[in-house]
Amino acid sequence: MAETPAELALETLKTLIFTVYYLLEAFILLFIPWSWRMKDITEDTVLVTGAGSGIGRLMAIKFAKKGAKLVLWDINETAIEETATEIKKYGGRVFTYKCDLSKRDEIYTVAEKVKQDGLDVTILVNNAGIVTGKKYLDCPDNMIEKTMAVNSMAHFWTVKAFLPSMLRKNHGHIVSIASSAGLVGVTGLADYCASKFAAVGFDESLKYELNAMGKDGVHTTVVCPYYINTGMFEGVKTRFPKVLPIVNQDYAASRIVDAVLINQEIVYIPRVLYFFLALKGLLPFHLTRLICEFMGNQTFMDTFRGRAKQN
Ligand SMILES: NC(=O)c1ccc[n+]([C@@H]2O[C@H](COP(=O)([O-])OP(=O)(O)OC[C@H]3O[C@@H](n4cnc5c(N)ncnc54)[C@H](O)[C@@H]3O)[C@@H](O)[C@H]2O)c1
Ligand SMILES: *[C@@H]1O[C@H](CO)[C@@H](O)[C@H](O)[C@H]1NC(C)=O
Ligand SMILES: *[C@@H]1O[C@H](CO)[C@@H](O)[C@H](O)[C@H]1NC(C)=O
Repeated sequence: MAETPAELALETLKTLIFTVYYLLEAFILLFIPWSWRMKDITEDTVLVTGAGSGIGRLMAIKFAKKGAKLVLWDINETAIEETATEIKKYGGRVFTYKCDLSKRDEIYTVAEKVKQDGLDVTILVNNAGIVTGKKYLDCPDNMIEKTMAVNSMAHFWTVKAFLPSMLRKNHGHIVSIASSAGLVGVTGLADYCASKFAAVGFDESLKYELNAMGKDGVHTTVVCPYYINTGMFEGVKTRFPKVLPIVNQDYAASRIVDAVLINQEIVYIPRVLYFFLALKGLLPFHLTRLICEFMGNQTFMDTFRGRAKQN
């Protein structure tokens, strides 16, 4: 049905009013301490994938300290047991499941087991990730497929498994750990960047769908960190650590947990990434490329060693 001029005028007015409202809201929130805005998660069950190492482990421990029940997934059984032991030391409630996130059937099977064990996941943190770390033409096909499977496809399957119950209660939170490599392309990370761009795109679409459904109790957070000192990107160097530092893993984990607790939709770490991303949208391509090169370049990956063992 065609829109009448009156309807269009009304919607324009509404859009203008909300423009002012959202800008004011964001401005006022700048002055309200985060600790005042944090939600209580003592009744929540948090599932963290890739909880056996790095920020996955640290986030799991931090969520447990906030009183949530934890469900840990990882392909490495020894590693998640270590995380669980750590959580139990603080008296936390924790359950571990071995799951290979590159396998859809396994994800669905393990998700079913979690539900049968009476665990109702209300906060899902898709964190597990892998990196090939080779120039595109040197990436073995199976590693490209595995990178897409773990870093992007797994998000589809875990969300499909746990979102319906969140929607029924209109209570939940989907967290996607992507990367700054999900916003900007990098030499030597073609498969990784593609997988992270996919995770960012999935999150953004999900945000709009949830909003259109009116499910205001189901939140989403996408996280795009620059390099973190977990060992995943061992050997990578940054040229100007004052401007673009390698992020400390404990800081990153705290920042992410806090962002979830205040329902922040988008998190870039460190904050200077917001500025670089805005520039990318405005400048001619070759100027963006020049700035990237100047910043330490598209040669970060030249010194990459990564983890000793690859899955
Ligand atoms: N470290 C960084 O510089 C950095 C930067 C930006 C984003 N990230 C992202 O943050 C997330 C966590 O990174 P990290 O540095 O803590 O990594 P990490 O390597 O320390 O931990 C990743 C965990 O995922 C698990 N895992 C790997 N493949 C799996 C599979 N097929 N099934 C189940 N579990 C699997 C590993 O066993 C490990 O415990 C990843 O998604 C990564 O891409 C990392
Ligand atoms: C599994 O985790 C343990 C403990 O963190 C670690 O020592 C081991 O190297 C990991 N195994 C693999 C295959 O990554
Ligand atoms: C950036 O990379 C290019 C090409 O790989 C190289 O020629 C140049 O010297 C590098 N610049 C810096 C500042 O590292």
